Amino acid sequence: MAAFIVLGAQWGDEGKGKMTDYLAEKAEVVVRFQGGNNAGHTVIVGDKEYKLHLIPSGILYDDKLNVIGNGVVIDPKALFDEINYLEELGVKVIPNKLIISDRAQVIMPYHRILDGLKEKARGKDDIGTTGKGIGPCYTDKVERSGIRICDLINKEVLERKLKQNIEDKNAIISLYGGETLDFTAVYSEYLAYAERIKPFVTDISVRIYKEIKDNKNVLFEGAQGSLLDIDYGTYPYVTSSNTIAGGVCTGAGIGPTVITGAVGIAKAYTTRVGKGPFPTELEDEMGEYLREKGHEYGVTTGRARRCGWLDLVILKSTARISGLTSFVVTKIDTLAGIEKIKVCTGYKFEGKVIDYFPASLEDLAKCEPIYEELDGWDDSIQNARSYEELPENAKKYLKRIEEFTGTKVSIVSVGPKRNQTIEVGDL
Ligand code: GDP
Ligand code: IMO
Ligand code: MG
Repeated sequence: MAAFIVLGAQWGDEGKGKMTDYLAEKAEVVVRFQGGNNAGHTVIVGDKEYKLHLIPSGILYDDKLNVIGNGVVIDPKALFDEINYLEELGVKVIPNKLIISDRAQVIMPYHRILDGLKEKARGKDDIGTTGKGIGPCYTDKVERSGIRICDLINKEVLERKLKQNIEDKNAIISLYGGETLDFTAVYSEYLAYAERIKPFVTDISVRIYKEIKDNKNVLFEGAQGSLLDIDYGTYPYVTSSNTIAGGVCTGAGIGPTVITGAVGIAKAYTTRVGKGPFPTELEDEMGEYLREKGHEYGVTTGRARRCGWLDLVILKSTARISGLTSFVVTKIDTLAGIEKIKVCTGYKFEGKVIDYFPASLEDLAKCEPIYEELDGWDDSIQNARSYEELPENAKKYLKRIEEFTGTKVSIVSVGPKRNQTIEVGDL
């Protein structure tokens, strides 16, 4: 395994939390490299369900090192709420189990406020963000006015940078008609966070490098999914970070030559939360069926997820962009009971057939999905524990994914629990 990436192959919520937890059994380190508490990763251990947003999914083991990388944007309030939530459930979150990058950017109250105000100002063209301040925080990072964790834990630097930022941001907040912030209140709130966060803070690149050199297995846990990537997603209906494999190098301070593989987590159908194009969306009874059977409601915002057929064009693009070594196919049990299942194998675009995902949303709007129909299977699939036990038609479905994308399927997930996981090949 060595240095292995787990990332979402669609629009997020593919089951990355479940699969990271599953694969973490054989790893020593789990690293988050991008995103923030916009993510919602569900892990079920025994009869307990955990919902993680910012903390890596390896935290449920006692003996794994969990790392929040420099590419992550950290809302300290959300971080400590999550630590308290985990500790109430009996999960220890202590400095030798969790380390946090000194270079990660801090989400401030004005980021959350601006996220809301900008969305409101966009009107019907809103993105449908999670409202957690993710976009405005990454904006400040790139604009070079952001406050990093190393700044947060230095009283004088925090005071200087915060004063400047509050002045700038209050001017913008006023422009949008929002309520301005008081420097003293924010400063004292964040000083308290600084004290609490200090013991966790380190140069994570140095530590990850050491772990890899010591032949430890390191898992990089992606948040969101390929099509929410700031460069390769359905821009502007995306998140503000690089969710693709390339994000690992910049977000965790490691070089590409140490990465040994990348697995794309692909739901057996497609879902999306928030706005933006979705060629195979089903706005009919079948969409409703998938939503109810698959419990497709957001972990972070509770919003109903839009549902549609599996889009193989998307999976093929993800395999290329992230250099996937294999796919993990999740929620194949949700498709049980449907007689004829459709998969999209191309788009009709201006009289031609294309099998790639166009950049322009205007072109994408003209794309008409081309479907292939496959025969379904029944609910007994949840009880399968080996490849042999999978229904024949489910095997044909998996074969079709492999054939179209040119990428093998290594694991199939037939339910949300750890033991509902079937290894069918190498990662
Ligand atoms: P993530 O954001 O990629 O970690 O995914 P979420 O946790 O947001 O959403 C995935 C949901 O599907 C969670 O409720 C999981 O417990 C559940 N889940 C994961 N794998 C499977 C599976 O194979 N079958 C079923 N039925 N549910 C699954
Ligand atoms: P996990 O890790 C699904 C979506 C939002 C919105 C867009 C931008 O659980 O798969 P943001 O708040 O990031 O600026 O919102 O991205 N989004 C997600 N959709 N799963 C997620 O995370 C998401 N994180 C953000 O709904 O459309
Ligand atoms: Mg999720």
